[in-house]
Amino acid sequence: MPFRTNRTTLTQYLIEERRRYPGASGDFNALILDVAMACKQISKAVAYGELAGLHGEHNAEEGGSINIQGEAQKKLDVLSNDLFIKTNEWGGHLLGMASEEMDDPLDIPEGYPKGRYLLVFDPLDGSSNIDVNVSVGSIFSILRAADDEPTPISHEAFLQPGSKQVAAGYALYGPSTMLILTVGNGVVGFTLDPTLGEFMLTHPNLTIPEDTQEFAINTSNSRFWEAPVKRYVDECLAGKTGPRGKDFNMRWIASMVAEAHRILMRGGVFMYPRDTKDPSKAGKLRLLYEANPVGMIMEQAGGRASTGHVPVLDVKPSGLHQRIGLVFGSKNEVERIERYHAEPQKSRDSEIPLFAERSLFRD
Ligand code: AHG
Ligand code: MN
Ligand code: MN
Repeated sequence: MPFRTNRTTLTQYLIEERRRYPGASGDFNALILDVAMACKQISKAVAYGELAGLHGEHNAEEGGSINIQGEAQKKLDVLSNDLFIKTNEWGGHLLGMASEEMDDPLDIPEGYPKGRYLLVFDPLDGSSNIDVNVSVGSIFSILRAADDEPTPISHEAFLQPGSKQVAAGYALYGPSTMLILTVGNGVVGFTLDPTLGEFMLTHPNLTIPEDTQEFAINTSNSRFWEAPVKRYVDECLAGKTGPRGKDFNMRWIASMVAEAHRILMRGGVFMYPRDTKDPSKAGKLRLLYEANPVGMIMEQAGGRASTGHVPVLDVKPSGLHQRIGLVFGSKNEVERIERYHAEPQKSRDSEIPLFAERSLFRD
């Protein structure tokens, strides 16, 4: 195995970053290290998989359990949530936590000191992929609590726009386990050395190319898409002979965190837009623990993240588990999709095949 002795560990990276802020208490670094510990434990559980009896539905023998999203929880969803709680509740850095898998925010238990940060997480993203051994990940967002924030902690404490995030990141449990982190000063990537159990800095400055020829969207929803999304995808599919004048490639992993990682590595655009499938849901992905942390990473890497209408980080949340339309990735593509949303919608004529894009009767 190629071996380098001069790699920077996550701890060293955090300490060196902190030196730039002489007033910093060290709380924040300790918090990130606790989050990283949760991710290492989840990585191990995911890797053991069915060897440890960890595949399948949670509580299958009792008919399964459903989370607040109305989604069946996997054993690993529940275990990952517990690991996040256990590794982060004791440290004294947090005032509360919120998760995809918990209806309400969690207070720091009596007996542990309270801190000034809030931790929001999706303990396992892409969990429909667990049993088929495809990459999954954990996504986290760190907010600051108001100085006079009352406890028990309220939902409202977490309803801050993504632009207020102090840090965000994700761990990806793929062929290697990686931790991607932004503290608002660019984006860095660490790879887990499984023998040392340390995250090593392997990607010191991640940036997203502004242009791309790769898009990701679940096309089984195409009949529910709004016109600007239809137009964008149609133009990609038309390739060299269409208005874009170039061929596009398509990917869909169904783990948003893995799609985000591919885009961070080589560019691309991801869309889970608002659609008309279920009018009670303004999209599929959740604002606080999916869209906002990934949005901050995208923006910090020179990409863009949007609802299709406005930057996702500008949205004032209205609920802990709020869903939102999400488009992110290479800047020029996201801006194009935003332009298509901003343009006045064509008349209903454009929905009639004879008058549709590329039809005989269109000038
Ligand atoms: P989670 O597993 O945390 O519930 O999130 C699943 C999300 C996301 O990871 C992915 O992009 C999307 O759901 C998959 O959607 P489809 O089922 O439409 O493919
Ligand atoms: Mn998720
Ligand atoms: Mn999840």
